[in-house]
Amino acid sequence: MRLILLGAPGAGKGTQADVVKSKYNIAHISTGDILRANVKQGTELGKLAQGYMTSGKLVPDDVIINMMKARLVEPDCKEGFMLDGFPRTITQAEALDKMLAELGIALDAVVSLEIDDEVVVSRLTSRRVCKQCGEIYNTIGKPSRVDGVCDKCGGEVIQRADDNEGTIRNRLSVFHEQTAPLIEYYKKAGILVSVDATAGKDSVLKIIERQG
Ligand code: AP5
Repeated sequence: MRLILLGAPGAGKGTQADVVKSKYNIAHISTGDILRANVKQGTELGKLAQGYMTSGKLVPDDVIINMMKARLVEPDCKEGFMLDGFPRTITQAEALDKMLAELGIALDAVVSLEIDDEVVVSRLTSRRVCKQCGEIYNTIGKPSRVDGVCDKCGGEVIQRADDNEGTIRNRLSVFHEQTAPLIEYYKKAGILVSVDATAGKDSVLKIIERQG
Protein backbone atom coordinates (compact mmCIF):
# COMPACT_ATOMS: atom_id res chain seq x y z
CA MET A 1 0.00 0.00 0.00
CA ARG A 2 1.40 3.38 -1.04
CA LEU A 3 -0.43 6.45 0.19
CA ILE A 4 -0.03 10.19 0.37
CA LEU A 5 -1.66 12.01 3.29
CA LEU A 6 -2.40 15.48 2.01
CA GLY A 7 -3.76 18.25 4.19
CA ALA A 8 -3.26 21.59 5.88
CA PRO A 9 -1.00 21.87 8.92
CA GLY A 10 -2.90 20.31 11.80
CA ALA A 11 -5.32 18.40 9.58
CA GLY A 12 -4.22 15.25 11.42
CA LYS A 13 -1.78 13.65 8.97
CA GLY A 14 0.52 12.40 11.76
CA THR A 15 -2.39 11.29 13.96
CA GLN A 16 -4.05 9.31 11.14
CA ALA A 17 -0.69 7.78 10.14
CA ASP A 18 -0.11 6.56 13.72
CA VAL A 19 -3.51 4.81 13.74
CA VAL A 20 -2.79 3.13 10.38
CA LYS A 21 0.69 2.15 11.59
CA SER A 22 -0.71 0.46 14.69
CA LYS A 23 -2.48 -2.00 12.36
CA TYR A 24 -0.39 -2.17 9.19
CA ASN A 25 3.38 -2.36 9.23
CA ILE A 26 4.18 0.18 6.53
CA ALA A 27 6.69 2.99 6.69
CA HIS A 28 5.38 6.37 7.90
CA ILE A 29 7.53 9.00 6.23
CA SER A 30 7.01 12.49 7.63
CA THR A 31 9.23 15.11 5.99
CA GLY A 32 8.57 17.39 8.98
CA ASP A 33 9.85 14.71 11.41
CA ILE A 34 12.95 14.05 9.28
CA LEU A 35 13.73 17.78 9.15
CA ARG A 36 13.14 18.23 12.91
CA ALA A 37 15.49 15.30 13.65
CA ASN A 38 18.15 17.00 11.50
CA VAL A 39 17.64 20.32 13.30
CA LYS A 40 18.04 18.52 16.65
CA GLN A 41 21.23 16.77 15.50
CA GLY A 42 22.63 20.02 14.06
CA THR A 43 23.31 18.55 10.59
CA GLU A 44 23.92 20.75 7.52
CA LEU A 45 20.37 19.92 6.37
CA GLY A 46 19.00 20.89 9.79
CA LYS A 47 20.89 24.20 9.79
CA LEU A 48 19.54 25.01 6.34
CA ALA A 49 15.94 24.00 7.17
CA GLN A 50 15.57 25.61 10.60
CA GLY A 51 14.91 29.20 9.49
CA TYR A 52 12.28 28.15 6.96
CA MET A 53 10.52 25.93 9.51
CA THR A 54 10.37 28.46 12.35
CA SER A 55 8.87 31.08 10.05
CA GLY A 56 6.39 28.61 8.50
CA LYS A 57 7.87 28.73 4.99
CA LEU A 58 8.64 25.71 2.83
CA VAL A 59 12.17 24.34 2.69
CA PRO A 60 13.40 24.65 -0.97
CA ASP A 61 12.14 21.95 -3.36
CA ASP A 62 15.57 20.65 -4.43
CA VAL A 63 16.56 19.99 -0.79
CA ILE A 64 13.34 18.07 -0.07
CA ILE A 65 13.44 16.14 -3.35
CA ASN A 66 17.01 14.92 -2.73
CA MET A 67 16.06 13.95 0.83
CA MET A 68 13.08 11.91 -0.42
CA LYS A 69 15.04 10.24 -3.23
CA ALA A 70 17.30 8.78 -0.55
CA ARG A 71 14.44 7.88 1.81
CA LEU A 72 12.23 6.02 -0.68
CA VAL A 73 14.93 3.46 -1.49
CA GLU A 74 15.40 2.42 2.16
CA PRO A 75 14.43 -1.23 2.87
CA ASP A 76 11.39 -0.39 5.05
CA CYS A 77 9.64 1.15 2.01
CA LYS A 78 9.49 -2.20 0.19
CA GLU A 79 6.20 -3.19 1.89
CA GLY A 80 4.64 0.20 1.19
CA PHE A 81 4.62 3.68 2.71
CA MET A 82 2.54 6.62 3.84
CA LEU A 83 3.94 10.00 2.82
CA ASP A 84 3.05 12.70 5.38
CA GLY A 85 3.92 16.24 4.32
CA PHE A 86 5.36 15.34 0.92
CA PRO A 87 4.76 16.42 -1.79
CA ARG A 88 3.86 20.00 -0.90
CA THR A 89 4.32 21.74 -4.28
CA ILE A 90 3.60 20.82 -7.89
CA THR A 91 7.39 20.63 -8.48
CA GLN A 92 7.69 18.07 -5.66
CA ALA A 93 4.71 16.07 -7.01
CA GLU A 94 6.26 15.91 -10.47
CA ALA A 95 9.58 14.81 -8.98
CA LEU A 96 7.77 12.12 -6.98
CA ASP A 97 6.07 10.83 -10.15
CA LYS A 98 9.52 10.49 -11.70
CA MET A 99 10.99 8.73 -8.64
CA LEU A 100 8.12 6.22 -8.53
CA ALA A 101 8.37 5.54 -12.28
CA GLU A 102 12.10 4.85 -11.87
CA LEU A 103 11.35 2.46 -9.01
CA GLY A 104 8.58 0.80 -11.08
CA ILE A 105 5.88 1.44 -8.46
CA ALA A 106 2.67 3.49 -8.29
CA LEU A 107 0.57 5.24 -5.66
CA ASP A 108 -2.66 3.54 -4.54
CA ALA A 109 -4.35 6.70 -3.27
CA VAL A 110 -3.92 10.28 -2.13
CA VAL A 111 -6.08 11.04 0.90
CA SER A 112 -7.00 14.71 1.21
CA LEU A 113 -7.89 15.63 4.81
CA GLU A 114 -10.31 18.58 4.58
CA ILE A 115 -10.43 21.09 7.46
CA ASP A 116 -11.31 24.76 8.16
CA ASP A 117 -8.49 27.17 9.00
CA GLU A 118 -9.99 28.17 12.37
CA VAL A 119 -10.16 24.53 13.49
CA VAL A 120 -6.48 24.24 12.55
CA VAL A 121 -5.55 27.28 14.65
CA SER A 122 -7.40 25.86 17.64
CA ARG A 123 -5.86 22.39 17.21
CA LEU A 124 -2.29 23.57 16.73
CA THR A 125 -2.18 26.17 19.51
CA SER A 126 -3.28 23.35 21.87
CA ARG A 127 -1.08 20.59 20.36
CA ARG A 128 1.79 19.16 22.40
CA VAL A 129 4.30 16.50 21.30
CA CYS A 130 6.70 14.18 23.07
CA LYS A 131 10.28 15.29 22.44
CA GLN A 132 11.48 11.71 22.74
CA CYS A 133 9.02 9.41 20.91
CA GLY A 134 6.89 11.93 18.97
CA GLU A 135 3.54 10.92 20.53
CA ILE A 136 0.95 13.63 19.71
CA TYR A 137 -1.20 15.19 22.47
CA ASN A 138 -3.71 18.00 22.69
CA THR A 139 -4.39 20.02 25.84
CA ILE A 140 -8.12 20.12 24.96
CA GLY A 141 -8.86 16.74 23.34
CA LYS A 142 -6.06 14.42 24.44
CA PRO A 143 -3.89 15.70 27.29
CA SER A 144 -1.08 13.56 28.70
CA ARG A 145 -2.02 12.00 32.07
CA VAL A 146 0.71 13.98 33.86
CA ASP A 147 1.25 17.50 32.53
CA GLY A 148 4.48 17.69 30.48
CA VAL A 149 5.22 13.93 30.71
CA CYS A 150 4.60 11.42 27.91
CA ASP A 151 2.19 8.56 28.78
CA LYS A 152 4.03 6.22 26.43
CA CYS A 153 7.75 6.74 27.17
CA GLY A 154 8.00 9.23 30.07
CA GLY A 155 9.71 11.77 27.77
CA GLU A 156 9.20 15.53 27.98
CA VAL A 157 5.99 16.78 26.31
CA ILE A 158 6.55 20.16 24.65
CA GLN A 159 4.96 22.70 22.28
CA ARG A 160 6.55 22.80 18.79
CA ALA A 161 8.38 26.06 17.96
CA ASP A 162 6.12 26.61 14.91
CA ASP A 163 2.86 26.07 16.85
CA ASN A 164 2.27 29.73 17.76
CA GLU A 165 -0.65 31.57 16.17
CA GLY A 166 1.44 33.86 13.90
CA THR A 167 3.45 30.98 12.41
CA ILE A 168 0.37 28.76 12.14
CA ARG A 169 -1.35 31.44 10.01
CA ASN A 170 1.77 31.72 7.80
CA ARG A 171 1.78 27.92 7.37
CA LEU A 172 -1.90 28.05 6.38
CA SER A 173 -1.24 30.74 3.73
CA VAL A 174 1.63 28.67 2.34
CA PHE A 175 -0.66 25.63 2.27
CA HIS A 176 -3.42 27.45 0.34
CA GLU A 177 -0.97 28.99 -2.16
CA GLN A 178 1.48 26.15 -2.77
CA THR A 179 0.04 22.84 -1.56
CA ALA A 180 -3.73 23.05 -2.19
CA PRO A 181 -3.19 22.93 -6.02
CA LEU A 182 -2.11 19.30 -5.49
CA ILE A 183 -5.75 18.41 -4.79
CA GLU A 184 -6.58 19.15 -8.44
CA TYR A 185 -3.34 17.48 -9.59
CA TYR A 186 -4.27 14.17 -7.96
CA LYS A 187 -7.98 14.51 -8.83
CA LYS A 188 -6.91 14.61 -12.48
CA ALA A 189 -4.77 11.51 -11.88
CA GLY A 190 -7.93 9.76 -10.60
CA ILE A 191 -6.46 8.74 -7.21
CA LEU A 192 -7.80 11.45 -4.85
CA VAL A 193 -10.01 10.45 -1.90
CA SER A 194 -11.40 13.35 0.19
CA VAL A 195 -12.07 12.91 3.91
CA ASP A 196 -13.57 15.18 6.59
CA ALA A 197 -10.58 15.71 8.92
CA THR A 198 -12.87 16.30 11.91
CA ALA A 199 -14.68 12.98 11.48
CA GLY A 200 -12.35 10.82 13.57
CA LYS A 201 -8.75 9.83 14.06
CA ASP A 202 -9.30 6.52 12.22
CA SER A 203 -10.84 7.92 9.02
CA VAL A 204 -7.84 6.94 6.89
CA LEU A 205 -7.68 3.46 8.42
CA LYS A 206 -11.39 3.01 7.58
CA ILE A 207 -10.73 3.98 3.94
CA ILE A 208 -7.89 1.46 3.71
CA GLU A 209 -10.07 -1.28 5.20
CA ARG A 210 -12.98 -0.42 2.87
CA GLN A 211 -10.73 -0.57 -0.19
CA GLY A 212 -9.22 -3.89 0.99
P1 AP5 B 1 5.18 19.25 9.21
O1 AP5 B 1 5.79 18.69 10.42
O2 AP5 B 1 4.83 18.34 8.08
O3 AP5 B 1 3.95 20.12 9.67
P2 AP5 B 1 2.50 20.37 9.06
O4 AP5 B 1 2.23 19.93 7.67
O5 AP5 B 1 2.30 21.79 9.34
O6 AP5 B 1 1.64 19.36 9.78
P3 AP5 B 1 1.56 19.13 11.30
O7 AP5 B 1 2.58 18.12 11.74
O8 AP5 B 1 1.59 20.45 12.02
O9 AP5 B 1 0.08 18.57 11.47
P4 AP5 B 1 -0.59 17.17 11.19
O10 AP5 B 1 -1.46 17.29 10.00
O11 AP5 B 1 0.39 16.04 11.22
O12 AP5 B 1 -1.53 17.11 12.48
P5 AP5 B 1 -1.46 16.23 13.81
O13 AP5 B 1 -1.76 14.80 13.51
O14 AP5 B 1 -0.21 16.52 14.58
O15 AP5 B 1 6.15 20.36 8.58
C1 AP5 B 1 6.78 21.34 9.38
C2 AP5 B 1 7.63 22.26 8.50
O16 AP5 B 1 8.66 21.49 7.83
C3 AP5 B 1 6.89 22.96 7.36
O17 AP5 B 1 6.25 24.15 7.80
C4 AP5 B 1 8.05 23.25 6.38
O18 AP5 B 1 8.83 24.34 6.81
C5 AP5 B 1 8.90 21.99 6.51
N1 AP5 B 1 8.51 20.96 5.52
C6 AP5 B 1 7.98 19.73 5.80
N2 AP5 B 1 7.74 19.05 4.67
C7 AP5 B 1 8.13 19.85 3.63
C8 AP5 B 1 8.09 19.72 2.22
N3 AP5 B 1 7.61 18.61 1.62
N4 AP5 B 1 8.53 20.77 1.48
C9 AP5 B 1 9.02 21.87 2.06
N5 AP5 B 1 9.07 22.07 3.39
C10 AP5 B 1 8.62 21.07 4.19
O19 AP5 B 1 -2.73 16.82 14.59
C11 AP5 B 1 -2.77 18.17 15.02
C12 AP5 B 1 -3.54 18.28 16.35
O20 AP5 B 1 -4.91 17.96 16.13
C13 AP5 B 1 -3.05 17.29 17.43
O21 AP5 B 1 -3.07 17.94 18.69
C14 AP5 B 1 -4.07 16.13 17.39
O22 AP5 B 1 -4.22 15.52 18.65
C15 AP5 B 1 -5.34 16.85 16.93
N6 AP5 B 1 -6.17 16.00 16.06
C16 AP5 B 1 -5.75 15.28 14.99
N7 AP5 B 1 -6.76 14.63 14.41
C17 AP5 B 1 -7.87 14.94 15.14
C18 AP5 B 1 -9.25 14.59 15.02
N8 AP5 B 1 -9.71 13.77 14.06
N9 AP5 B 1 -10.12 15.10 15.93
C19 AP5 B 1 -9.67 15.94 16.91
N10 AP5 B 1 -8.38 16.30 17.08
C20 AP5 B 1 -7.49 15.82 16.20
